[in-house]
Amino acid sequence: MASLEQLLDQRLAAAFSAVAGGPADPVLRRSQHADFQADGALTLGRRLGRPPRDLAAEVVRRARLEDLCARVEVAGPGFINLTVADQALGRLLSEVVEDVRLGVPQAAVRETVVVDYSAPNVAKEMHVGHLRSTVIGDAAVRLLEWLGHRVIRANHLGDWGTPFGMLIEHLLDIGEAEAAHELSVGDLDSFYRAARRKFDGDEGFRERARRRVVELQRGDPTTRRLWRLLVEESERYFLAVYQRLGVRLTGDDFVGESAYHDRIPEVLEDLERQGLLRESGGARCVFPSGFTNREGEPLPLIVQKADGGFGYAATDLAAIRHRTRDLGATRLLYVVGLPQRQHLEMVFEVAREAGWLQPPARAEHVGFGSVLGPDGRMLRSRAGTPVKLIDLLDEAVARARTVVAEKNPSLEEAAREEVARAVGIGAVKYADLSTDRVRDYVFDYGRMLSFDGNTAPYLQYAHARIRSIFRRGGGETPEVSGPVVVSEPAERALAIELLGLADVVDGVAESLEFHRLANYLYGLATTFTTFYERCPVLRAEAGTRRSRLALCDLTARTLALGLGLLGIPAPDRM
Ligand code: ARG
Repeated sequence: MASLEQLLDQRLAAAFSAVAGGPADPVLRRSQHADFQADGALTLGRRLGRPPRDLAAEVVRRARLEDLCARVEVAGPGFINLTVADQALGRLLSEVVEDVRLGVPQAAVRETVVVDYSAPNVAKEMHVGHLRSTVIGDAAVRLLEWLGHRVIRANHLGDWGTPFGMLIEHLLDIGEAEAAHELSVGDLDSFYRAARRKFDGDEGFRERARRRVVELQRGDPTTRRLWRLLVEESERYFLAVYQRLGVRLTGDDFVGESAYHDRIPEVLEDLERQGLLRESGGARCVFPSGFTNREGEPLPLIVQKADGGFGYAATDLAAIRHRTRDLGATRLLYVVGLPQRQHLEMVFEVAREAGWLQPPARAEHVGFGSVLGPDGRMLRSRAGTPVKLIDLLDEAVARARTVVAEKNPSLEEAAREEVARAVGIGAVKYADLSTDRVRDYVFDYGRMLSFDGNTAPYLQYAHARIRSIFRRGGGETPEVSGPVVVSEPAERALAIELLGLADVVDGVAESLEFHRLANYLYGLATTFTTFYERCPVLRAEAGTRRSRLALCDLTARTLALGLGLLGIPAPDRM
């Protein structure tokens, strides 16, 4: 089923190419002057050296739009304004109302997609950067799965490398029981800091830590057991955060850096065989093309350090190779903060040069900016330490509880708790997903929990309010089937908005710019408000009432679906 915009685009494209004598883009978009406008005649005019108005007129004459448009007019320098026929809107909407997928088709090409996200570090507190990665990655997983792709969740846990020497030695110093206790109550940072302090100030400790890393990499059983203890305690804690957040990640999705350790030798061999490895200062490096430092010298990606150890780059290379060759993935998404852009781009380039990342397989850095405090600086707690994620979430839910109680004092206790969670967590996620992800945003409870503006509570409330129309509709669920008929301007505006879902979802699946989906939902909710003010629903006569109820129902379903794709619940009552 093609969307309204796709239908218009196809018909116009045929006419444009006929006029141009070859492919020509109609450049179709939504319009203030009509429902849609096509600006393609302007570029085409420049290309052919002909007056755009003449070209536009010719396109209008040739275009087969009778069944879709009530009016097609040339305006200004050569725009084509299109007014969609009420009948066409009604016909398309009647189909969408009957469709469980709300007019959004599954992807034409189903891919295996690996989403690399969340990725906190063992024995370290999750910070707001991990929150962003978790929330954005979760939305990507939900959206791509819903489109029919095979999605592999990869929580690239930081569970390997030099810090584990000092962490294990510290664990031995304080005893296993005490360590397990500190880690299980989520006091990860003080554990890490205590280890770090000894490492920085005590030569003997430093030496023990160094030897311990070697033991770990060698696979010494006692060392491995202690390491597992650290990893397991941290994983337990991270899972509690995921559960609070309501994201899809499970214990099975932890595929930490350590999981790639045994694959590193193959990576080295492969690079060596292809002549890509070079020695530099004792380290073994690849110099991917296109990367230079400020002096214009080639930049190395260090695969094996001078001391023989492997770092972050080596595991990332092994992970790519595994994901494309063994898992058969063609799309690799890395939901990682923007400061790691260069690292990732270098890793991708090396993988391409080594032949592990060949079309159609490709890797994308789904980068994001920082979360700022009210002072516009990196978000910190009052004590100046990094904020604990779990505290942030608890606070959001506590505040939501108050807001919800004010808004609807009659809600029973259990329902209120449920709604407070949906609103509190939803607000945190939506604040993140509704801003262009490459930008920084200010973490502001007041704004994210407001019932006005582009927020989760506003959308959740809009959804619940529509559901309440059905509850008021006389006990029994009002009939929503039957043809949809639109005629009033506010009805038409809502219809066009509703028919736009498929195109938005399509674009977001490609760009992973979830703020576009958020903006769409916000636009839909405000359009609905105008419709509901202007067009009586329950008081309308039978035929109109049924059709308008169908519009209400479809709006509620679209809001719930859209929020759901963002990982945000839409309760029926609030
Ligand atoms: N653990 C890393 C960090 O906390 C993020 C890992 C991102 N994923 C990757 N494949 N490099 O910064």
